[in-house]
Amino acid sequence: MDVYVCVGSSCHIKNTKGVIDKLNERIKAEGLEDKVELKGAFCMGECSQQGVSVRINDVIYSVMEEEADKFFDEHILNA
Ligand code: FES
Repeated sequence: MDVYVCVGSSCHIKNTKGVIDKLNERIKAEGLEDKVELKGAFCMGECSQQGVSVRINDVIYSVMEEEADKFFDEHILNA
């Protein structure tokens, strides 16, 4: 599974690094390193959303660092 995290400037100020760190931490904790790959992506045109844009299979989600655990459970672990 490829998970694209927006590294555009509007998302950056909403803490892209925090979201990436949290998702990476969970990927390691669940032993999914060979199944889930985090990739950086350019602006997804969703800059006005509250959180950082994350795309999985053409669906774009808005993820705040504090919600990254829940996002991981719902959209990555359960996928
Ligand atoms: S900078 Fe992330 S969606 Fe635009």
